[in-house]
Amino acid sequence: MKLVVANWKMYLGVRESVALAKTLAKNAKVPRGAVTICPSFSALGSVAGVLKKTGYSLGAQDIAVEDRGAYTGEVSGKDLRELGCEVVIIGHSERRHELNETDAEIRKKIMAAIRNRLKPVLCVGETEEERKSGKAEMVVRHQLESALKRLPITHYPLPITVAYEPVWAIGTGRDASKEDVVEMHTFIRTVCKRLLPSSVRVQVLYGGSVDRKNIDSFLAESAVDGVLVGGASARASFAGLLHQLLH
Ligand code: PGA
Repeated sequence: MKLVVANWKMYLGVRESVALAKTLAKNAKVPRGAVTICPSFSALGSVAGVLKKTGYSLGAQDIAVEDRGAYTGEVSGKDLRELGCEVVIIGHSERRHELNETDAEIRKKIMAAIRNRLKPVLCVGETEEERKSGKAEMVVRHQLESALKRLPITHYPLPITVAYEPVWAIGTGRDASKEDVVEMHTFIRTVCKRLLPSSVRVQVLYGGSVDRKNIDSFLAESAVDGVLVGGASARASFAGLLHQLLH
């Protein structure tokens, strides 16, 4: 089963998020676990209510490093669990590049997800300059190593998910070529094999301008376990996209 993670970013208000969740629940029935909806923190509780008893899973777009304490404005993994989240996106390029999230913070967030039994979706990817200068693999390897090397886990029951999202492909309408995606996914799997205990399952998703036109061709690749969809997932037409995919 291929996976779809919908990252609604800060595109929708609470009422709009609930309305879209209702449209999805009504018009696109999905198998349990195949599609995860990640609304903004403020909409999580209401969207959880709508998606309960449907096949959709709930995810968050970020997680606090700590579980409790004096951390104004943060949202902990404990709270995410309580709201019904099963998945959390960590290290998205918008957080790395625009909010200066560091490798060290991202690693701590991976550990927070693991502590709270949330499936982490670790985002990695190179900028356009890094790809042009032949450094894409080096950058992605560094991001994987700093987040996953010597994690204190032996038998983690949930998969660790890596989303390969080239920065230049996010929200630009310029998707990466299938060949580049397959090559990078194969590389990511090799690096993860070295970094993680063999009992830990790894899934690799592609993200960056995925839409109705290109989604089938990415998912047709065996190296691609699924997709992370931003802009195209925050519109009512997402129901049609899922319908096309799953029926
Ligand atoms: P996009 O975003 O689909 O709008 O390019 C993907 C993402 O940022 O996860």
